Amino acid sequence: MSAKDGAEPETRLIHTRKDRLGRVTVNPPVERASTVLFRTEEALYGPKPTYGRMGLTVHRELEEGFRVLEGARFARLAGNGLQACALAIASVVEAGDHLLFTDSLYGPTARFCEERLKKMGVAADRFDPRIGAGIEALFRDNTAAIVLESPGSLTFEISDLPAIAEVAHKRGIRIVCDNTWGAGLHYKPLALGADITVQALTKYVVGHADAFAGAAATNDGGLAVKLAATSEDWGITLAPDDAYLAVRGLRTLKTRLKAHEAAGLEIARWLETRPEVAGVIHPALPSHPDHAIWKRDFTGSNGLFSFVLKPYSQEAQIRFFDALTLFGMGFSWGGFESLIIPCDEQLTRLPGDWTAAKDGQLMRVHVGLEAPGDLKADLEAGFAALSAG
Ligand SMILES: Cc1ncc(COP(=O)(O)O)c(C=O)c1O
Repeated sequence: MSAKDGAEPETRLIHTRKDRLGRVTVNPPVERASTVLFRTEEALYGPKPTYGRMGLTVHRELEEGFRVLEGARFARLAGNGLQACALAIASVVEAGDHLLFTDSLYGPTARFCEERLKKMGVAADRFDPRIGAGIEALFRDNTAAIVLESPGSLTFEISDLPAIAEVAHKRGIRIVCDNTWGAGLHYKPLALGADITVQALTKYVVGHADAFAGAAATNDGGLAVKLAATSEDWGITLAPDDAYLAVRGLRTLKTRLKAHEAAGLEIARWLETRPEVAGVIHPALPSHPDHAIWKRDFTGSNGLFSFVLKPYSQEAQIRFFDALTLFGMGFSWGGFESLIIPCDEQLTRLPGDWTAAKDGQLMRVHVGLEAPGDLKADLEAGFAALSAG
């Protein structure tokens, strides 16, 4: 056995290159190609990918890295995270089926379930992310799949994946889990009962806000065949330069994630002490209602969480955002830069959800790799501006 065989994931993510003998570069080559040339007809129609759409060297390397991250046997790449979610979900349902999806699923994925799949003959219903084994009451004879995202987008509920998997698997229902927040290093959905795990690699894996990529992985050979067929029928591809940036991101993922985690916790704890803040929603804080499940199932957190700003006028909120010079207002997360977005406008939740009763504006924060002291000073300037009108 070589040192590589029993190595930790962060070591294996650095050593995905297969052949270290002979002339080989540390990084994989980026082949920008549609056409691949062959000498014989046999090779042209052979088992290896013979067309650039199915990916070349850099894609194979990224698939290997994603398998390491998720503890999976099979992986399939996509052009972005949303496409990877659509690919995974469409691989486990067909016309006539019923799907259940978590109420705090990433908005565009929820729209895919609710609107696109409906046009394709699949009915879909939302469920409370905290439902646990109670999800059984929502099963219909034709329920084929459950889509989870834990923590949930914007509101960060943690779902009890093992409890849901236990009741789902008794009925042959498949579970797809969006693992973008856990990033593979801090959460292992396949080991906890999911059938397919998905990530928007655009976030922490790429890590520099300069490329899109997505991936889905499974340990089930039958599902791997379905993922491959769906991907090929839809013509799903990942641009080689973006695949390269994702491979490069893998090498430093653990180090960056740990830095995001430490800074995120520091800012979250500080926000809990601020008089302007009604509450902080971070699963790694004991104040989070699902902290016990998070502690049981996750091995770490990152820089993405939310807080509720106490009620302030629209003008005061504008002054708050205007005063920030380090936190930028923009979508996405997982890059080196700190971001903040007001997210009430995006909240579409089941009636009776806690968000309807919350008193104040929900803000999502991504804590980047800047010095935490500077980030606190930036937010402090924003808080001072709230009452400066
Ligand atoms: C949890 C989650 N899943 C999927 C996506 C989609 O990723 P992409 O922007 O690469 O399509 C996002 C994007 O914000 C996300 O937050």
